[in-house]
Amino acid sequence: MREMVCLVRAMPVLVAFIFPALVQSAVQHYNFTVVMKNTTKLCSTKSIVTINGKFPGPTLYAREDDNVLVRVTNQVQYNITIHWHGVRQLRTGWYDGPAYITQCPIQPGQDFVYNFTLTRQRGTLLWHAHISWLRATVNGAIVILPKRGVPYPFPKPDKEKVIVLGEWWKADVEAVVKQATQFGLPPNLSDAHTINGRTGPVTNCPSHGFTLHVESGKTYLLRIINAAVNDQLFFKIAGHNFTVVEADASYTKPFVTDTIFTGPGQTTNALLTADKGIGKYLIAISPFMDTIVPVDNATGIGFLRYKGTVAFSPTALTNTPAINATAVTNTFLDRIRSLNSNKYPANVPLTVDHSLMFVIGVGINPCATCVNGTKTVAAINNVSFVMPTTNLLQAHYYNIGGVFTDDFPANPPTPFNYTGSAQPSNFQTTNGTRLYRLAYNSTVQIVLQGTTIIAPESHPTHLHGFNFYAVGKGLGNFDPNKDPEKFNLFDPVERNTIGVPTGGWTAIRFRADNPGVWFLHCHLEVHTTWGLKMAFVVDNGEGPNESLPPPPSDLPKCYIQSNKL
Ligand code: C2O
Repeated sequence: MREMVCLVRAMPVLVAFIFPALVQSAVQHYNFTVVMKNTTKLCSTKSIVTINGKFPGPTLYAREDDNVLVRVTNQVQYNITIHWHGVRQLRTGWYDGPAYITQCPIQPGQDFVYNFTLTRQRGTLLWHAHISWLRATVNGAIVILPKRGVPYPFPKPDKEKVIVLGEWWKADVEAVVKQATQFGLPPNLSDAHTINGRTGPVTNCPSHGFTLHVESGKTYLLRIINAAVNDQLFFKIAGHNFTVVEADASYTKPFVTDTIFTGPGQTTNALLTADKGIGKYLIAISPFMDTIVPVDNATGIGFLRYKGTVAFSPTALTNTPAINATAVTNTFLDRIRSLNSNKYPANVPLTVDHSLMFVIGVGINPCATCVNGTKTVAAINNVSFVMPTTNLLQAHYYNIGGVFTDDFPANPPTPFNYTGSAQPSNFQTTNGTRLYRLAYNSTVQIVLQGTTIIAPESHPTHLHGFNFYAVGKGLGNFDPNKDPEKFNLFDPVERNTIGVPTGGWTAIRFRADNPGVWFLHCHLEVHTTWGLKMAFVVDNGEGPNESLPPPPSDLPKCYIQSNKL
Protein backbone atom coordinates (compact mmCIF):
# COMPACT_ATOMS: atom_id res chain seq x y z
CA MET A 1 0.00 0.00 0.00
CA ARG A 2 2.75 2.38 0.95
CA GLU A 3 4.51 1.84 -2.35
CA MET A 4 1.29 2.51 -4.19
CA VAL A 5 0.80 5.77 -2.39
CA CYS A 6 4.35 6.73 -3.23
CA LEU A 7 3.86 5.79 -6.84
CA VAL A 8 0.65 7.77 -7.03
CA ARG A 9 2.41 10.72 -5.46
CA ALA A 10 5.31 10.38 -7.86
CA MET A 11 3.09 10.07 -10.92
CA PRO A 12 2.88 13.74 -11.82
CA VAL A 13 6.64 14.03 -11.47
CA LEU A 14 7.19 10.97 -13.69
CA VAL A 15 4.71 12.19 -16.27
CA ALA A 16 6.27 15.63 -16.19
CA PHE A 17 9.66 14.06 -16.77
CA ILE A 18 8.59 11.92 -19.73
CA PHE A 19 6.01 14.23 -21.31
CA PRO A 20 6.78 17.74 -20.09
CA ALA A 21 4.06 19.32 -22.22
CA LEU A 22 1.34 17.09 -20.75
CA VAL A 23 1.52 18.45 -17.24
CA GLN A 24 0.03 21.86 -17.47
CA SER A 25 -0.80 22.74 -13.94
CA ALA A 26 0.46 22.37 -10.43
CA VAL A 27 -0.54 23.36 -6.94
CA GLN A 28 1.41 26.23 -5.36
CA HIS A 29 1.33 26.45 -1.58
CA TYR A 30 2.15 29.61 0.35
CA ASN A 31 2.06 30.54 4.01
CA PHE A 32 1.36 34.19 4.73
CA THR A 33 1.74 35.04 8.39
CA VAL A 34 0.57 38.50 9.34
CA VAL A 35 3.08 39.95 11.80
CA MET A 36 4.21 43.34 13.08
CA LYS A 37 7.71 44.46 12.13
CA ASN A 38 9.79 47.41 13.28
CA THR A 39 10.91 49.31 10.21
CA THR A 40 13.07 52.41 9.76
CA LYS A 41 12.65 54.77 6.83
CA LEU A 42 13.28 58.51 6.47
CA CYS A 43 15.32 58.16 9.67
CA SER A 44 12.27 57.29 11.71
CA THR A 45 11.11 53.94 13.04
CA LYS A 46 7.62 52.50 13.42
CA SER A 47 5.99 49.12 13.71
CA ILE A 48 4.16 48.05 10.54
CA VAL A 49 1.80 45.23 9.61
CA THR A 50 3.54 42.87 7.18
CA ILE A 51 3.32 39.43 5.64
CA ASN A 52 6.17 37.26 6.95
CA GLY A 53 7.99 40.40 8.20
CA LYS A 54 8.59 41.73 4.68
CA PHE A 55 7.81 45.03 2.96
CA PRO A 56 6.92 44.62 0.18
CA GLY A 57 5.68 41.12 0.97
CA PRO A 58 6.69 37.84 -0.67
CA THR A 59 6.20 37.42 -4.42
CA LEU A 60 3.70 34.74 -5.30
CA TYR A 61 4.96 32.73 -8.30
CA ALA A 62 2.73 30.43 -10.35
CA ARG A 63 1.97 29.41 -13.91
CA GLU A 64 -1.20 29.91 -15.88
CA ASP A 65 -3.73 27.22 -14.82
CA ASP A 66 -1.98 26.55 -11.51
CA ASN A 67 -4.03 26.16 -8.38
CA VAL A 68 -2.80 28.51 -5.64
CA LEU A 69 -3.35 27.84 -1.94
CA VAL A 70 -2.37 30.58 0.48
CA ARG A 71 -2.84 30.05 4.19
CA VAL A 72 -3.15 33.47 5.85
CA THR A 73 -2.53 33.34 9.60
CA ASN A 74 -3.35 36.53 11.47
CA GLN A 75 -0.96 37.25 14.35
CA VAL A 76 -1.62 40.98 14.71
CA GLN A 77 -4.33 42.89 16.57
CA TYR A 78 -6.01 44.09 13.36
CA ASN A 79 -8.63 42.25 11.34
CA ILE A 80 -7.24 41.34 7.93
CA THR A 81 -8.15 40.05 4.46
CA ILE A 82 -6.01 39.63 1.35
CA HIS A 83 -7.21 40.49 -2.15
CA TRP A 84 -5.60 38.94 -5.24
CA HIS A 85 -5.96 42.04 -7.35
CA GLY A 86 -6.76 41.16 -10.96
CA VAL A 87 -7.14 37.41 -10.43
CA ARG A 88 -10.38 36.54 -12.22
CA GLN A 89 -11.59 34.18 -9.45
CA LEU A 90 -13.85 32.28 -11.84
CA ARG A 91 -16.52 30.73 -9.59
CA THR A 92 -14.22 31.25 -6.59
CA GLY A 93 -15.59 34.59 -5.43
CA TRP A 94 -15.33 33.45 -1.78
CA TYR A 95 -11.56 33.89 -2.09
CA ASP A 96 -11.54 37.36 -3.70
CA GLY A 97 -10.76 39.09 -0.42
CA PRO A 98 -12.44 42.52 -0.07
CA ALA A 99 -13.64 42.72 3.54
CA TYR A 100 -17.42 42.65 3.97
CA ILE A 101 -17.90 42.19 0.22
CA THR A 102 -16.89 38.54 -0.29
CA GLN A 103 -15.80 37.57 3.21
CA CYS A 104 -15.66 38.75 6.78
CA PRO A 105 -12.17 39.56 7.98
CA ILE A 106 -9.73 37.05 9.43
CA GLN A 107 -9.71 37.99 13.10
CA PRO A 108 -6.62 38.09 15.33
CA GLY A 109 -5.45 34.54 16.01
CA GLN A 110 -7.50 33.05 13.14
CA ASP A 111 -6.50 31.76 9.73
CA PHE A 112 -8.06 31.19 6.33
CA VAL A 113 -6.86 29.36 3.21
CA TYR A 114 -7.39 31.22 -0.06
CA ASN A 115 -7.81 28.70 -2.89
CA PHE A 116 -8.01 29.80 -6.51
CA THR A 117 -6.87 28.89 -10.00
CA LEU A 118 -5.15 31.23 -12.44
CA THR A 119 -7.31 30.59 -15.48
CA ARG A 120 -6.41 32.19 -18.84
CA GLN A 121 -4.18 34.81 -17.25
CA ARG A 122 -0.45 35.34 -17.47
CA GLY A 123 1.67 38.32 -16.54
CA THR A 124 2.00 40.43 -13.41
CA LEU A 125 -0.66 41.23 -10.82
CA LEU A 126 -0.50 42.18 -7.16
CA TRP A 127 -1.97 41.05 -3.89
CA HIS A 128 -2.80 43.41 -1.04
CA ALA A 129 -4.73 43.69 2.21
CA HIS A 130 -8.31 44.76 1.52
CA ILE A 131 -9.50 46.28 4.76
CA SER A 132 -9.02 49.82 5.97
CA TRP A 133 -5.62 51.12 4.75
CA LEU A 134 -3.54 48.09 5.71
CA ARG A 135 -2.52 47.64 2.10
CA ALA A 136 -0.05 50.50 2.60
CA THR A 137 2.37 47.91 3.98
CA VAL A 138 0.62 44.61 3.21
CA ASN A 139 1.21 44.13 -0.51
CA GLY A 140 3.32 42.19 -2.96
CA ALA A 141 3.64 40.83 -6.48
CA ILE A 142 1.87 37.98 -8.23
CA VAL A 143 3.92 36.59 -11.12
CA ILE A 144 1.96 34.31 -13.46
CA LEU A 145 4.30 32.63 -15.93
CA PRO A 146 2.90 31.17 -19.15
CA LYS A 147 2.16 27.45 -19.16
CA ARG A 148 5.25 25.29 -19.43
CA GLY A 149 6.49 25.20 -23.01
CA VAL A 150 4.45 28.26 -24.07
CA PRO A 151 6.68 31.20 -25.04
CA TYR A 152 6.04 34.89 -24.40
CA PRO A 153 4.72 36.68 -27.49
CA PHE A 154 7.87 38.87 -27.38
CA PRO A 155 11.63 38.16 -27.40
CA LYS A 156 12.57 36.11 -24.36
CA PRO A 157 14.25 38.32 -21.76
CA ASP A 158 17.51 37.19 -20.14
CA LYS A 159 16.18 37.95 -16.67
CA GLU A 160 13.06 39.15 -14.88
CA LYS A 161 12.81 41.72 -12.07
CA VAL A 162 9.84 42.58 -9.90
CA ILE A 163 9.53 46.29 -9.06
CA VAL A 164 6.90 47.25 -6.49
CA LEU A 165 6.18 50.97 -6.12
CA GLY A 166 4.76 52.07 -2.80
CA GLU A 167 3.91 54.96 -0.54
CA TRP A 168 5.29 55.53 2.95
CA TRP A 169 3.99 57.46 5.95
CA LYS A 170 6.25 58.17 8.92
CA ALA A 171 3.10 58.02 11.07
CA ASP A 172 1.05 54.93 11.76
CA VAL A 173 -1.20 54.66 8.69
CA GLU A 174 -4.21 53.27 10.55
CA ALA A 175 -4.01 56.21 12.96
CA VAL A 176 -3.87 58.62 9.99
CA VAL A 177 -7.09 57.21 8.53
CA LYS A 178 -8.84 57.01 11.86
CA GLN A 179 -8.13 60.64 12.61
CA ALA A 180 -9.21 61.78 9.14
CA THR A 181 -12.49 59.88 9.42
CA GLN A 182 -13.14 61.33 12.87
CA PHE A 183 -12.51 64.88 11.73
CA GLY A 184 -14.18 64.50 8.32
CA LEU A 185 -11.04 65.86 6.65
CA PRO A 186 -8.69 64.49 3.99
CA PRO A 187 -6.03 62.23 5.52
CA ASN A 188 -2.44 63.43 5.85
CA LEU A 189 -0.31 62.95 2.76
CA SER A 190 2.37 60.29 2.68
CA ASP A 191 6.01 61.27 3.25
CA ALA A 192 7.75 59.31 0.51
CA HIS A 193 7.43 56.98 -2.44
CA THR A 194 9.26 53.68 -2.35
CA ILE A 195 10.79 51.35 -4.94
CA ASN A 196 10.82 47.79 -3.59
CA GLY A 197 10.44 49.24 -0.12
CA ARG A 198 13.25 51.84 -0.36
CA THR A 199 12.85 55.60 -0.55
CA GLY A 200 16.36 56.42 -1.69
CA PRO A 201 18.38 59.28 -0.18
CA VAL A 202 16.39 62.29 1.05
CA THR A 203 17.55 65.59 2.52
CA ASN A 204 19.18 65.08 5.92
CA CYS A 205 18.67 61.34 5.80
CA PRO A 206 21.19 59.41 3.73
CA SER A 207 19.94 55.98 2.73
CA HIS A 208 20.58 53.49 -0.02
CA GLY A 209 17.92 53.37 -2.66
CA PHE A 210 16.82 50.25 -4.47
CA THR A 211 19.47 49.11 -6.98
CA LEU A 212 18.62 47.28 -10.17
CA HIS A 213 21.74 45.34 -11.15
CA VAL A 214 22.16 44.73 -14.87
CA GLU A 215 24.76 43.35 -17.24
CA SER A 216 25.68 45.06 -20.47
CA GLY A 217 23.83 43.71 -23.49
CA LYS A 218 21.23 41.77 -21.55
CA THR A 219 17.45 42.31 -21.70
CA TYR A 220 15.31 42.42 -18.57
CA LEU A 221 11.59 42.01 -18.15
CA LEU A 222 10.55 44.55 -15.52
CA ARG A 223 7.32 43.68 -13.74
CA ILE A 224 6.28 47.11 -12.47
CA ILE A 225 3.50 47.25 -9.90
CA ASN A 226 1.91 50.39 -8.51
CA ALA A 227 1.05 49.36 -4.95
CA ALA A 228 0.78 52.98 -3.76
CA VAL A 229 -2.28 53.87 -1.73
CA ASN A 230 -3.31 57.16 -3.32
CA ASP A 231 -0.78 58.19 -5.93
CA GLN A 232 -0.58 57.75 -9.67
CA LEU A 233 3.08 57.62 -10.67
CA PHE A 234 5.52 58.16 -13.51
CA PHE A 235 8.42 55.69 -13.74
CA LYS A 236 11.64 56.61 -15.56
CA ILE A 237 15.20 55.35 -15.87
CA ALA A 238 17.85 57.84 -17.05
CA GLY A 239 19.06 57.21 -20.59
CA HIS A 240 16.93 54.10 -21.13
CA ASN A 241 13.73 53.25 -23.00
CA PHE A 242 11.17 50.60 -22.19
CA THR A 243 9.18 48.36 -24.50
CA VAL A 244 5.78 47.84 -22.88
CA VAL A 245 4.48 44.31 -23.55
CA GLU A 246 1.77 43.68 -20.97
CA ALA A 247 -0.62 45.49 -18.66
CA ASP A 248 -2.74 44.01 -15.84
CA ALA A 249 -1.76 40.46 -16.92
CA SER A 250 -2.90 40.93 -20.54
CA TYR A 251 -0.47 41.15 -23.43
CA THR A 252 -0.28 44.43 -25.31
CA LYS A 253 1.08 45.47 -28.69
CA PRO A 254 4.70 46.33 -27.89
CA PHE A 255 5.55 50.03 -27.89
CA VAL A 256 8.63 51.99 -26.94
CA THR A 257 8.50 54.78 -24.35
CA ASP A 258 10.87 56.54 -21.96
CA THR A 259 8.13 57.07 -19.33
CA ILE A 260 5.72 54.58 -17.81
CA PHE A 261 2.51 55.92 -16.29
CA THR A 262 0.77 53.77 -13.71
CA GLY A 263 -2.14 54.15 -11.31
CA PRO A 264 -2.56 52.33 -7.99
CA GLY A 265 -3.58 48.73 -8.71
CA GLN A 266 -2.13 48.74 -12.21
CA THR A 267 0.76 46.59 -13.38
CA THR A 268 3.00 47.06 -16.41
CA ASN A 269 5.49 44.62 -17.90
CA ALA A 270 8.22 46.26 -19.91
CA LEU A 271 11.45 45.09 -21.53
CA LEU A 272 14.60 47.04 -20.76
CA THR A 273 17.84 46.43 -22.63
CA ALA A 274 21.08 47.36 -20.88
CA ASP A 275 22.51 48.99 -23.99
CA LYS A 276 24.18 52.09 -22.54
CA GLY A 277 27.69 52.62 -21.26
CA ILE A 278 28.74 50.92 -18.04
CA GLY A 279 27.77 53.12 -15.11
CA LYS A 280 24.98 54.19 -12.79
CA TYR A 281 21.63 55.61 -13.91
CA LEU A 282 18.90 57.21 -11.85
CA ILE A 283 15.52 55.48 -11.48
CA ALA A 284 12.82 57.99 -10.55
CA ILE A 285 9.18 57.63 -9.59
CA SER A 286 7.23 60.87 -9.36
CA PRO A 287 3.55 61.59 -8.75
CA PHE A 288 0.94 62.77 -11.25
CA MET A 289 -1.80 65.20 -10.18
CA ASP A 290 -3.33 67.52 -12.78
CA THR A 291 -5.69 69.38 -10.49
CA ILE A 292 -5.64 71.50 -7.35
CA VAL A 293 -5.74 68.56 -4.94
CA PRO A 294 -2.58 68.30 -2.78
CA VAL A 295 -0.39 65.23 -3.26
CA ASP A 296 2.83 63.85 -1.80
CA ASN A 297 5.25 65.34 -4.32
CA ALA A 298 8.36 63.47 -3.17
CA THR A 299 10.26 61.68 -5.94
CA GLY A 300 11.28 58.13 -5.06
CA ILE A 301 14.82 57.35 -6.13
CA GLY A 302 16.67 54.19 -7.09
CA PHE A 303 19.62 53.26 -9.26
CA LEU A 304 20.25 51.13 -12.32
CA ARG A 305 23.78 49.82 -12.00
CA TYR A 306 25.74 48.03 -14.70
CA LYS A 307 28.07 45.23 -13.75
CA GLY A 308 31.60 46.61 -13.77
CA THR A 309 30.64 50.11 -12.60
CA VAL A 310 33.48 51.46 -10.47
CA ALA A 311 32.78 52.68 -6.96
CA PHE A 312 31.87 56.37 -6.60
CA SER A 313 31.06 56.80 -10.28
CA PRO A 314 28.59 59.63 -10.91
CA THR A 315 24.93 58.85 -11.56
CA ALA A 316 23.40 59.77 -14.91
CA LEU A 317 20.33 61.85 -14.06
CA THR A 318 16.90 62.14 -15.63
CA ASN A 319 14.25 64.78 -15.36
CA THR A 320 10.78 63.70 -14.24
CA PRO A 321 7.57 64.76 -16.01
CA ALA A 322 5.87 67.82 -14.52
CA ILE A 323 3.49 66.83 -11.73
CA ASN A 324 0.55 67.91 -13.91
CA ALA A 325 1.83 66.45 -17.19
CA THR A 326 -1.57 65.33 -18.50
CA ALA A 327 -0.17 65.15 -22.04
CA VAL A 328 2.44 62.56 -20.97
CA THR A 329 -0.28 60.36 -19.45
CA ASN A 330 -2.42 60.64 -22.59
CA THR A 331 0.43 59.74 -24.92
CA PHE A 332 1.08 56.66 -22.84
CA LEU A 333 -2.59 55.65 -22.52
CA ASP A 334 -3.36 56.20 -26.20
CA ARG A 335 -0.58 53.84 -27.22
CA ILE A 336 -1.50 50.97 -24.97
CA ARG A 337 -3.52 48.44 -27.02
CA SER A 338 -4.41 44.78 -26.70
CA LEU A 339 -2.10 42.42 -28.55
CA ASN A 340 -5.23 41.00 -30.25
CA SER A 341 -3.43 38.13 -31.98
CA ASN A 342 -4.91 34.74 -32.94
CA LYS A 343 -3.60 33.27 -29.72
CA TYR A 344 -4.53 36.23 -27.55
CA PRO A 345 -7.64 37.76 -29.12
CA ALA A 346 -9.45 40.79 -27.76
CA ASN A 347 -12.98 39.48 -27.15
CA VAL A 348 -14.64 42.86 -26.87
CA PRO A 349 -18.42 42.57 -26.37
CA LEU A 350 -19.92 44.05 -29.55
CA THR A 351 -23.44 44.31 -28.18
CA VAL A 352 -24.43 45.73 -24.80
CA ASP A 353 -27.22 44.39 -22.56
CA HIS A 354 -26.68 46.92 -19.77
CA SER A 355 -25.60 50.40 -20.74
CA LEU A 356 -24.65 52.16 -17.51
CA MET A 357 -23.60 55.70 -16.82
CA PHE A 358 -21.72 56.09 -13.53
CA VAL A 359 -21.02 59.63 -12.43
CA ILE A 360 -18.14 59.63 -9.97
CA GLY A 361 -16.80 62.36 -7.74
CA VAL A 362 -16.62 63.86 -4.29
CA GLY A 363 -19.28 65.57 -2.20
CA ILE A 364 -19.92 67.00 1.26
CA ASN A 365 -22.30 65.59 3.84
CA PRO A 366 -23.30 66.89 7.26
CA CYS A 367 -21.41 65.33 10.16
CA ALA A 368 -22.27 66.36 13.71
CA THR A 369 -19.02 65.07 15.24
CA CYS A 370 -16.70 66.49 12.57
CA VAL A 371 -14.62 69.65 12.99
CA ASN A 372 -16.54 71.75 10.44
CA GLY A 373 -19.86 70.02 10.99
CA THR A 374 -19.35 68.42 7.57
CA LYS A 375 -17.29 65.65 6.07
CA THR A 376 -15.85 65.02 2.65
CA VAL A 377 -17.48 62.05 0.93
CA ALA A 378 -17.41 60.49 -2.52
CA ALA A 379 -20.09 58.75 -4.53
CA ILE A 380 -21.16 56.96 -7.69
CA ASN A 381 -24.47 58.25 -9.09
CA ASN A 382 -24.81 60.18 -5.88
CA VAL A 383 -24.73 57.03 -3.72
CA SER A 384 -21.98 56.92 -1.08
CA PHE A 385 -21.57 53.22 -0.47
CA VAL A 386 -22.09 52.08 3.11
CA MET A 387 -20.07 49.01 4.09
CA PRO A 388 -22.25 46.26 5.57
CA THR A 389 -21.23 44.45 8.76
CA THR A 390 -21.73 40.99 7.26
CA ASN A 391 -20.41 39.98 3.87
CA LEU A 392 -22.50 40.66 0.77
CA LEU A 393 -21.61 37.45 -1.01
CA GLN A 394 -22.96 35.33 1.84
CA ALA A 395 -26.11 37.48 2.04
CA HIS A 396 -26.58 36.92 -1.68
CA TYR A 397 -25.82 33.19 -1.56
CA TYR A 398 -28.18 32.47 1.35
CA ASN A 399 -30.72 35.07 0.33
CA ILE A 400 -30.42 36.93 3.62
CA GLY A 401 -32.57 40.04 3.52
CA GLY A 402 -31.77 43.44 4.96
CA VAL A 403 -28.06 43.46 4.07
CA PHE A 404 -28.21 45.10 0.63
CA THR A 405 -30.68 46.19 -2.03
CA ASP A 406 -30.19 45.60 -5.75
CA ASP A 407 -31.48 48.97 -6.91
CA PHE A 408 -28.20 50.73 -7.65
CA PRO A 409 -29.08 53.45 -10.19
CA ALA A 410 -28.02 52.69 -13.79
CA ASN A 411 -27.85 56.41 -14.46
CA PRO A 412 -27.28 59.54 -12.39
CA PRO A 413 -30.55 60.38 -10.62
CA THR A 414 -30.33 64.07 -11.55
CA PRO A 415 -28.28 64.72 -14.68
CA PHE A 416 -26.34 67.99 -14.68
CA ASN A 417 -23.40 69.52 -16.49
CA TYR A 418 -20.83 67.21 -14.83
CA THR A 419 -17.73 68.99 -16.04
CA GLY A 420 -18.97 72.56 -16.26
CA SER A 421 -17.45 75.40 -14.28
CA ALA A 422 -20.68 76.10 -12.35
CA GLN A 423 -20.96 74.06 -9.17
CA PRO A 424 -24.22 72.25 -8.40
CA SER A 425 -26.41 73.87 -5.75
CA ASN A 426 -25.72 71.17 -3.21
CA PHE A 427 -22.91 68.72 -2.69
CA GLN A 428 -24.85 66.25 -0.62
CA THR A 429 -24.94 62.54 -1.45
CA THR A 430 -27.21 59.70 -0.34
CA ASN A 431 -25.99 56.68 1.63
CA GLY A 432 -26.75 53.08 0.78
CA THR A 433 -25.56 49.52 0.34
CA ARG A 434 -27.01 49.29 -3.14
CA LEU A 435 -25.89 46.74 -5.72
CA TYR A 436 -26.57 46.37 -9.43
CA ARG A 437 -27.85 42.97 -10.54
CA LEU A 438 -26.62 41.28 -13.73
CA ALA A 439 -27.78 38.06 -15.37
CA TYR A 440 -25.04 35.52 -16.03
CA ASN A 441 -23.23 36.23 -19.28
CA SER A 442 -24.89 39.57 -19.92
CA THR A 443 -22.72 42.25 -21.48
CA VAL A 444 -22.13 45.53 -19.74
CA GLN A 445 -20.90 48.94 -20.77
CA ILE A 446 -20.06 51.49 -18.10
CA VAL A 447 -19.29 55.08 -18.90
CA LEU A 448 -17.37 56.36 -15.89
CA GLN A 449 -17.98 60.09 -15.92
CA GLY A 450 -15.83 62.32 -13.73
CA THR A 451 -17.21 65.53 -12.27
CA THR A 452 -15.79 68.94 -11.42
CA ILE A 453 -17.61 69.07 -8.08
CA ILE A 454 -15.27 70.85 -5.63
CA ALA A 455 -12.27 69.79 -7.71
CA PRO A 456 -12.04 67.61 -10.81
CA GLU A 457 -9.79 64.64 -10.23
CA SER A 458 -8.63 61.55 -12.04
CA HIS A 459 -9.91 58.22 -10.66
CA PRO A 460 -8.13 54.91 -11.34
CA THR A 461 -11.18 52.65 -11.12
CA HIS A 462 -10.89 48.93 -10.38
CA LEU A 463 -13.40 46.16 -11.06
CA HIS A 464 -13.09 42.87 -9.19
CA GLY A 465 -13.80 39.50 -10.85
CA PHE A 466 -13.46 40.65 -14.46
CA ASN A 467 -11.15 42.13 -17.00
CA PHE A 468 -12.76 44.83 -19.08
CA TYR A 469 -11.88 46.53 -22.32
CA ALA A 470 -11.32 50.29 -22.22
CA VAL A 471 -13.15 51.21 -25.43
CA GLY A 472 -13.08 54.99 -25.24
CA LYS A 473 -12.21 58.09 -23.26
CA GLY A 474 -12.58 61.81 -23.60
CA LEU A 475 -12.65 65.16 -21.91
CA GLY A 476 -15.80 66.93 -20.75
CA ASN A 477 -19.20 65.23 -20.76
CA PHE A 478 -19.74 61.92 -22.51
CA ASP A 479 -21.96 62.38 -25.56
CA PRO A 480 -24.10 59.24 -26.00
CA ASN A 481 -24.84 60.17 -29.63
CA LYS A 482 -21.39 61.01 -30.91
CA ASP A 483 -18.79 59.39 -28.67
CA PRO A 484 -19.68 55.70 -29.24
CA GLU A 485 -18.86 56.15 -32.94
CA LYS A 486 -15.24 56.66 -31.93
CA PHE A 487 -15.03 53.59 -29.68
CA ASN A 488 -12.20 51.17 -30.33
CA LEU A 489 -13.87 47.75 -30.46
CA PHE A 490 -10.91 46.18 -32.27
CA ASP A 491 -7.86 46.28 -29.99
CA PRO A 492 -8.71 48.24 -26.81
CA VAL A 493 -6.50 47.53 -23.82
CA GLU A 494 -7.82 44.80 -21.51
CA ARG A 495 -7.34 45.69 -17.84
CA ASN A 496 -8.77 45.49 -14.35
CA THR A 497 -8.00 49.10 -13.36
CA ILE A 498 -8.43 52.15 -15.59
CA GLY A 499 -7.96 55.87 -15.05
CA VAL A 500 -10.90 58.21 -15.59
CA PRO A 501 -9.32 61.44 -16.86
CA THR A 502 -9.64 64.61 -14.79
CA GLY A 503 -12.84 66.35 -15.92
CA GLY A 504 -13.55 63.60 -18.45
CA TRP A 505 -14.85 60.07 -18.97
CA THR A 506 -13.79 56.51 -19.76
CA ALA A 507 -15.98 53.78 -21.26
CA ILE A 508 -15.41 50.11 -20.45
CA ARG A 509 -17.07 46.86 -21.55
CA PHE A 510 -17.13 43.40 -20.03
CA ARG A 511 -19.10 40.17 -20.05
CA ALA A 512 -20.63 39.13 -16.71
CA ASP A 513 -19.43 35.52 -16.98
CA ASN A 514 -18.52 35.11 -13.31
CA PRO A 515 -21.28 34.57 -10.73
CA GLY A 516 -20.82 36.32 -7.39
CA VAL A 517 -20.58 39.76 -5.83
CA TRP A 518 -17.95 41.99 -7.37
CA PHE A 519 -16.66 45.25 -6.00
CA LEU A 520 -16.05 48.29 -8.20
CA HIS A 521 -14.21 51.21 -6.66
CA CYS A 522 -11.71 53.98 -7.10
CA HIS A 523 -8.30 52.50 -6.27
CA LEU A 524 -7.24 55.73 -4.58
CA GLU A 525 -7.87 54.47 -1.06
CA VAL A 526 -8.85 57.94 0.11
CA HIS A 527 -11.81 57.93 -2.31
CA THR A 528 -12.79 54.35 -1.46
CA THR A 529 -12.91 55.36 2.20
CA TRP A 530 -15.18 58.27 1.32
CA GLY A 531 -17.67 55.96 -0.44
CA LEU A 532 -16.58 55.87 -4.10
CA LYS A 533 -17.50 52.21 -4.44
CA MET A 534 -20.39 49.91 -5.37
CA ALA A 535 -20.81 46.24 -6.22
CA PHE A 536 -22.37 44.09 -8.91
CA VAL A 537 -24.27 40.95 -8.04
CA VAL A 538 -23.98 38.45 -10.89
CA ASP A 539 -26.56 35.66 -10.76
CA ASN A 540 -25.82 32.02 -11.51
CA GLY A 541 -26.21 30.75 -15.05
CA GLU A 542 -28.10 27.61 -16.07
CA GLY A 543 -25.14 25.51 -17.23
CA PRO A 544 -23.09 23.07 -15.15
CA ASN A 545 -20.13 25.41 -14.57
CA GLU A 546 -22.08 28.58 -14.24
CA SER A 547 -22.94 28.76 -10.57
CA LEU A 548 -21.13 29.78 -7.45
CA PRO A 549 -20.31 26.78 -5.20
CA PRO A 550 -21.14 26.96 -1.47
CA PRO A 551 -18.75 28.88 0.83
CA PRO A 552 -15.70 27.04 2.17
CA SER A 553 -16.15 25.75 5.72
CA ASP A 554 -13.30 27.91 7.07
CA LEU A 555 -14.71 31.17 5.68
CA PRO A 556 -14.19 33.67 8.53
CA LYS A 557 -17.25 34.38 10.66
CA CYS A 558 -18.61 37.88 11.04
CA TYR A 559 -18.79 37.80 14.82
CA ILE A 560 -16.21 37.60 17.58
CA GLN A 561 -15.38 34.02 18.53
CA SER A 562 -16.25 34.39 22.21
CA ASN A 563 -19.63 35.80 21.40
CA LYS A 564 -21.24 32.60 20.04
CA LEU A 565 -24.31 33.25 17.92
CU1 C2O B 1 -6.76 46.31 -5.45
CU2 C2O B 1 -10.68 46.28 -4.37
O1 C2O B 1 -8.69 46.38 -4.86
